[in-house]
Amino acid sequence: MFQTLPGFREFYPEDCAIRNYLFATWRASAQSFAFQEFDGPLLEPLELITAKSGDEIVGQLFNFEDKGGRGVTLRPELTPTLARLVGAKAGSIKRPVKWFGIAENFRYEKPQKGRLRSHYQFNADLLGETSPAADAEIIGLLIGTLCAFGLTREQFVLRLSDRDLWLLLLEQQGLTGDTALTALNIIDKMERETPEAMLKAFSERGVPGGETVLEQATALVACDSLEAVEAFFAGKGESAVAERVTARLAQWRELLGHLDAMGLADFIRVDLSIVRGLAYYTGFVFEAFQTVGKGRALAGGGRYDHLVEKLGYQSMPAVGFGMGDVTLRDLLEDCKLLPDPKPELDAYVVIGGEAERVVALRDVARFRAQGIKVDYGLKQQGFGKQFKTAGASGARFALIYGQEEVAAGKLKLRDMSSGEEELVDAEGALARLSA
Ligand code: HAM
Repeated sequence: MFQTLPGFREFYPEDCAIRNYLFATWRASAQSFAFQEFDGPLLEPLELITAKSGDEIVGQLFNFEDKGGRGVTLRPELTPTLARLVGAKAGSIKRPVKWFGIAENFRYEKPQKGRLRSHYQFNADLLGETSPAADAEIIGLLIGTLCAFGLTREQFVLRLSDRDLWLLLLEQQGLTGDTALTALNIIDKMERETPEAMLKAFSERGVPGGETVLEQATALVACDSLEAVEAFFAGKGESAVAERVTARLAQWRELLGHLDAMGLADFIRVDLSIVRGLAYYTGFVFEAFQTVGKGRALAGGGRYDHLVEKLGYQSMPAVGFGMGDVTLRDLLEDCKLLPDPKPELDAYVVIGGEAERVVALRDVARFRAQGIKVDYGLKQQGFGKQFKTAGASGARFALIYGQEEVAAGKLKLRDMSSGEEELVDAEGALARLSA
């Protein structure tokens, strides 16, 4: 007997129905924001991912050598693929680029509730625009999508942060370049680590002044509003980076202003503890967390203004997010927000005998060609049994091909909810079924 690999899922029809619902809602939501769908290969050159995604994801790759000796990997995320697709057309593409994709991603993580080795991710990205209006559009789509599932601000929150402000703070401590990025990686783990472990990590990984960095980081993380962030930086007095901090805070006000105008202020929590693990992020970063149950991440994203350029194309600023299907499905289930499975069938055909079957099959083929969902018993059975199956099938109508009806060139159409019956020809049945 064979088992599914750890962290992989099988989708029985009822699971597929839920997956289809998630995908349909994602698509409708993205399209309502005028995003266009794209896709890319499941298998990518290893270097596309190792180049820019960062150590965390590179450590989780499903990679191997193909028969041509190429280093390849199943995609762990869609963003590098998107950057390549847009980069290749950067000279001619109409900006802003607003694209979305639904991708199966593979990460060799320790399987646990909410985190698997294969998951589907809804990605939406906006490229070619640096202004906070683009960040607002992306965050608006993220929140709008969760609301389209019936979720409310009682059930999730968007935690908004900014790698630019972090880098400015680190620069004030004299940390720049790779040292600053190393410090940021350590700060990313702050929520889960003890201060002692943080200090040890700073010193082991060559970040000087660990104690002051930790003290400043703790104070910044404690700020829970823009006013608090402003006060935090104002309290630091004049410094070489003060002007850039002021300019950055103006962009914060612009972003929050747009989100407020969109009616989304209540969903936003300023929370500088979000740093994001992926290496390519540059400016505003954010994660949506459920606020009920286990508080897991539903989505994450941010600005990545240099990725396209770093892959060798012309410069193309970008912002986007990814939303996974695993935690989302769990949350919708817990909140009883998954819709009842709809009856899949329009009509179940009840057939009097082998002679009537010939006529019935001809009509069934005609109905199906019009997109009507029809089923019938493959073996000839008594009327009673067939009506029972028709009832259990959830079909809206039963189409009855008895000897008498067929002899008159007709069939009987029974409305399964009211029990009403009418004698119609195939044309009439088609009209009723299509209504
Ligand atoms: P990410 O934060 O790695 O971002 O993933 C986004 C979301 O995908 C997570 O919040 C979570 O819901 C889901 N997810 C990630 N890994 C797993 C897993 N192993 N099992 C189940 N769900 C998972 C990215 O991937 C970025 N590429 C998103 C992005 C797009 N940034 C800009 N554009």
